[in-house]
Amino acid sequence: MATPATPNSAAKVEPLTKRKSWTALQSHYEAIRGQHLRSLFAEDPKRGERMTAEAIGIFLDYSKNRITDKTVKLLVQLAEESGLRSHIDAMFRGEKINFTEKRAVLHVALRAPKDASIVVDGQNVVPEVHAVLDKMAAFSNRVRSGAWTGHTGKRIRNVINIGIGGSDLGPVMAYEALKSYSDRAMTFRFVSNVDGTDFAEAVEGLDAAETLFIVSSKTFTTLETMTNAHSARDWSLAALGGDEKSVAKHFVAVSTNATEVAKFGIDTANMFGFWDWVGGRYSMDSAIGLSTMLAIGPDNFRSMLNGFHQMDEHFRTAPFEENLPVLLGLLGIWYNDFFGAQTVAVLPYEQYLKRFPAYLQQLTMESNGKHVTVDGSDVTYSTGPIYWGEPGTNGQHSFYQLIHQGTRLIPCDFIAFAQPLKPLGPHHDMLLANVFAQTEALAFGKTPEQVKAEGTPDWLVPHRVFEGNRPSNTILATRLTPETLGQLVALYEHAVFTQGAIWQINSFDQWGVELGKVLAQRIIPEVASHTETPLNHDSSTNNLIRRYRKLKA
Ligand code: F6P
Repeated sequence: MATPATPNSAAKVEPLTKRKSWTALQSHYEAIRGQHLRSLFAEDPKRGERMTAEAIGIFLDYSKNRITDKTVKLLVQLAEESGLRSHIDAMFRGEKINFTEKRAVLHVALRAPKDASIVVDGQNVVPEVHAVLDKMAAFSNRVRSGAWTGHTGKRIRNVINIGIGGSDLGPVMAYEALKSYSDRAMTFRFVSNVDGTDFAEAVEGLDAAETLFIVSSKTFTTLETMTNAHSARDWSLAALGGDEKSVAKHFVAVSTNATEVAKFGIDTANMFGFWDWVGGRYSMDSAIGLSTMLAIGPDNFRSMLNGFHQMDEHFRTAPFEENLPVLLGLLGIWYNDFFGAQTVAVLPYEQYLKRFPAYLQQLTMESNGKHVTVDGSDVTYSTGPIYWGEPGTNGQHSFYQLIHQGTRLIPCDFIAFAQPLKPLGPHHDMLLANVFAQTEALAFGKTPEQVKAEGTPDWLVPHRVFEGNRPSNTILATRLTPETLGQLVALYEHAVFTQGAIWQINSFDQWGVELGKVLAQRIIPEVASHTETPLNHDSSTNNLIRRYRKLKA
């Protein structure tokens, strides 16, 4: 029996580990864990062509994984037994699959075409989505053309997005990724950290008369964002002669909370809305992407949405064995739950994707970092792995040593594009040669015989041997465009969904971030106090607060 897509009672679900496909995968793992990719490739010359999938211009080579055709078959069976198809349908139908917060999960509606219909609580949300997109486009065009001016009549040349988590990571990642499509006459900066340095550096050298702040916060109550927004207001007002009227020209908001936006002093006419069915980490294509649209223009933004939508449709309709996000998600489960791998390295060989690993960290870890199943019982297997990474080739000269010769198994996703956005002599061929060389070295390594044959003295041989058998996926597309970026982000969104559905967890809440927020609120007045107020924490926390108070004086 599959896990219900929208759990509505405390009814117990059938444990994942009791599924037929799960137990079959366990015995299959025991049977093939010792097999080397060298022999898998040697025995099956067509493997590198067969174990691939391609859709909407994205090519996935998953042949350098420690799998056989049977592994794929069993993993697909696991997806079927887990009711993945009905989970997908429930999401697209707008069911409240985020059942702990009683919310639908409809980032797919953010990129649905105008004529689509997705109903939440009896209402088709697609027209609202397009109304906000149109409002964003009109605003972006006014700012980009200079028609929207600041308080003193100067045109806006600088845009600062203030937000954190999903209200920052998506915007900053997309801006960096699509910089080559952006208006270079404008400056874009991002403030997230409550560390005052972040704000100070973001406004450094900027003329307040030419600076627009976008306060991006779903809730409009997040401590970091509201603190930075108030500092921005003070900075802007101080530079513009203290006229409160200037706020309307230099501040806009992106939020679901009109009441708090108005309280802050931003005219709600300058507010771009979204909905509680958009999770923070799934919001870069909602109004949270306003800074992206200002940078690349409405047409490019729409083409990014189109890329997202293409992947949504592929995910919704393609058979699992050809379905890119499903395959990526299943392979992740294979390493996480059977090989015991604890992390996944994401290695974009594209400098513009330098913030992509950081973006994926929130997407994957806030979604699948869960320890209870939908019926509230403790999971008896590992859920979300740790995601990390850096753009190639830089990582090769730092942490790849551990991936090649360390004691841990680290599955890697290599991401590359055939055409560079900035062609420069031999650079791109060199870059791509490194992608192929790394995946080859990881998979096949170098045997002691090969090392010896190079004339290496015996004592040095063990140090120079590469065990190989280190798995990787290669994701290859033609060119990094707004459309490809949308496809790529949706690929990972749906891989996360696939895994969450199989692990029987709710990928769409994030209660784990609450406790620290509550405790910080309690400690703020204690650390700010000039008098020695009594402290009632544990002895370590009390001692640290006392020491901080002394040192800061
Ligand atoms: O603290 C986690 C979180 O709730 C994220 O899920 C979210 O993206 C971020 O904070 C920011 O929240 P908001 O957009 O409401 O300011």
